[in-house]
Amino acid sequence: MYALITGASSGIGYHCAKILASKGYDLIITARSVDKLNKLKDEVEKEYKKNVVVIPLDISKQENISELFIQTKDYEIEVVINNAGLGKVGMFNEVTDAEDYNMININVTAMHMILKHYADVLNSGYILTVASVASFCPGPKMATYYATKNYIRSYAEAIRYELKKMKKNVGVTILAPGPVDTNFNDTANVTFTLKGVAADKCASYAIKRMFKKKKFATPKWTVRWATRFMRILPHRTSMRICYKSQSKKQK
Ligand SMILES: NC(=O)c1ccc[n+]([C@@H]2O[C@H](COP(=O)([O-])OP(=O)(O)OC[C@H]3O[C@@H](n4cnc5c(N)ncnc54)[C@H](OP(=O)(O)O)[C@@H]3O)[C@@H](O)[C@H]2O)c1
Repeated sequence: MYALITGASSGIGYHCAKILASKGYDLIITARSVDKLNKLKDEVEKEYKKNVVVIPLDISKQENISELFIQTKDYEIEVVINNAGLGKVGMFNEVTDAEDYNMININVTAMHMILKHYADVLNSGYILTVASVASFCPGPKMATYYATKNYIRSYAEAIRYELKKMKKNVGVTILAPGPVDTNFNDTANVTFTLKGVAADKCASYAIKRMFKKKKFATPKWTVRWATRFMRILPHRTSMRICYKSQSKKQK
């Protein structure tokens, strides 16, 4: 049985891959960095004696998303970790058009199509879609990122509901973490103001929740409570908090 992991070359995706291999899954791993994917393949084959298929792809391009579906169609997939994504901090007009397109192409289009495709073709299994605590409110000073994560959280909740109505045995879990120590900061050009959770701990918590078919996975109880609070706060208040905290985070 195979587990497909997007964004497996680093951070949360990398640790999800290692944990799933330790649980007996063969892996299909994808990202752009071929060297990192091949290194992960060597580690997994040596440590866990599992088969690893490497598919190097830039999923910001629509044709590559279709290519992923073609290349995975003959594998028996039970787990999908829909994880590859990125953020960018700054006022809306400080983020370039190219950066906005890239975030929307990956965090919205690719994540949407991957969730849709595998929710449809899997007979039974588990899909973890990686959103963020940012998915519960608008995010001034990181507006595009927050909007993309709101989108994918909303889409995943609806797909989860529809799968239940269809009585299909496929779980959809939404990972909504606060800060996690990965390469995300460098890409987003931020420094966290709160202490991040370790990427392996985040992945392990998310996978536990996914196998229980829980709706949300938010590691760290303080962040879980903050998220609950955020969801009932008027957006005017949460935006004020967000603007202040993003301003402190900008490098
Ligand atoms: N770290 C946090 O604080 C945090 C908090 C909440 C949510 N998240 C979410 O967690 C997910 C994983 O991020 P991370 O924190 O683990 O950061 P990361 O270490 O930067 O990992 C991002 C992964 O996405 C892949 N990726 C980026 N652009 C890609 C592209 N065009 N095509 C294919 N793959 C691409 C990267 O691989 P290549 O560069 O090799 O392509 C990498 O494997 C993201 O969806 C992020 O929004 C992170």
